[in-house]
Amino acid sequence: MRIESRIGAVRCFVQAARREGKAVGLVPTMGAFHEGHLSLMRRSVADNGATVVSLFVNPTQFGAEEDLSKYPRDLPRDARLAEQVGVSLIFTPEAAAMYPEGACTWVTVEGLTEGLCGARRPGHFRGVTTVVAKLLNIVQPDRAYFGEKDYQQLQVIRRMVRDLDLPVEVVALPIVREPDGLAMSSRNAYLSPEERRAAARLYAALREGAALVREGATGAQGTARVREVLAGEPLLKPQYVEAVDPLTLADRSGAGSPLVLMAAVHAGKTRLIDNLRVDG
Ligand code: PAF
Repeated sequence: MRIESRIGAVRCFVQAARREGKAVGLVPTMGAFHEGHLSLMRRSVADNGATVVSLFVNPTQFGAEEDLSKYPRDLPRDARLAEQVGVSLIFTPEAAAMYPEGACTWVTVEGLTEGLCGARRPGHFRGVTTVVAKLLNIVQPDRAYFGEKDYQQLQVIRRMVRDLDLPVEVVALPIVREPDGLAMSSRNAYLSPEERRAAARLYAALREGAALVREGATGAQGTARVREVLAGEPLLKPQYVEAVDPLTLADRSGAGSPLVLMAAVHAGKTRLIDNLRVDG
């Protein structure tokens, strides 16, 4: 497995893979790999002759008060894990290469980015879509892999790819969870033991809400149930709990399934997100 920080070298690598008749998969990441990332990599390795993993803690998607400087970074560990699952190349660009002096071009998806996390993290999705568009442009993969944990991000990226006719297939994979249900996330490493124990309640709450909706309740009744369960855990402070359309992310509080229950909570200083889709 190669590790490359230069855009030109990644382009050469991809061209060589194509000359050998290989399809190319891209797994965009910010590092601090967990089973969620590894499931995306494994799938890409199974689907494509060459897999590129980008590892870039993208400054433009962090707000001024957010955790950019303390975001977990451990390239040797990440490289070991990626190599074990068969990744061909890790792309670790410097911020100055991704955002050269004077860069002033942004990719913005309107509408879909305005609610949920977008409303609480101004500028976040503009940073995500800009960096993902750049990564897709640099690597030009046949397929790009994203996890459903960042459900809004996934729908935003799908829309960007559709609207800009980007020649890539977006492949989404399910959330990977800890045995107690907590969705895997690099930010789980910030949790104290008490917060970690409490954090499992988020998924339990979503499941209770989803069960109600499955029995015929509306999105609003489902989210009320989620909030009720969360209220029983003083270490979790809900930021939002919403029922939305699986594709448009429009409000589904007055409707039943299909919908996605989406939630963000704070456990101490750590912000956790999770979601659960209800189809039938
Ligand atoms: O989901 C993430 O880790 C990031 O938002 C992404 C897609 C790698 C863009 O920086």
